[in-house]
Amino acid sequence: MQIAIDGPSSAGKSTVAKLVATELNFIYCDTGAMYRAATVLAQQNQLDYGDEEQILALLKQATIKFQPAKTGQLVFLDDQDVTLKIRTPEITNNVSQVSALPKIREELVRQQRSIASGNNIVMDGRDIGTTVLPDAELKVFLIASANERARRRFEENITKGIQTPLAKLQEEIELRDYKDSHRRVSPLTKADDAVEIDSTHLSIEEVTQAIVKLANERK
Ligand code: DC
Repeated sequence: MQIAIDGPSSAGKSTVAKLVATELNFIYCDTGAMYRAATVLAQQNQLDYGDEEQILALLKQATIKFQPAKTGQLVFLDDQDVTLKIRTPEITNNVSQVSALPKIREELVRQQRSIASGNNIVMDGRDIGTTVLPDAELKVFLIASANERARRRFEENITKGIQTPLAKLQEEIELRDYKDSHRRVSPLTKADDAVEIDSTHLSIEEVTQAIVKLANERK
């Protein structure tokens, strides 16, 4: 069974997707982490974030791998652990540009389909239900208000000792929403057959259980 979870940034997709996968004993694939790893490749090789051909060449030679760990999931670029690196502001601020490159998307979509093939999987991203796994048995479009998403990011930052004003976080989220929904290739859109869940007033546990219930109904 394939479960696609799409939605805007900071809507809680990866937190919920991980919990759903654990509960159902499915594999979990964070496709955003793959676009972030491609951005790390560009940064470490001093490439322009718009240099489609060079980034593609590196991406084809490299292997992005996920490894389950007690602290969550580790992300590897070949033998290099890039779990923390992919979340740094430098990468976060430039991943929209890399993920808008058509050839990079084509390559990562190919890799994502191959990871999903023949597996019970929960995959989260922006184009999973529309492009990567159009035949997924369950598609969820997870949303939350920009204000609530900024508030969650703010709380998360506090635990990491980062102090960013709430208004700035909301501005960044809205900018990323705009870029993700207006890019030419695979913009963020809800699949016609996706179930929309608004998590603004729901807990992580409530969202997780709603998705697990839908999955069990469709098994
Ligand atoms: O979910 P995230 O914040 O880790 O995603 C990082 C970036 O990658 C974000 O700008 C959207 C993009 N992305 C995408 O274009 N398609 C996906 N399937 C997943 C993420």
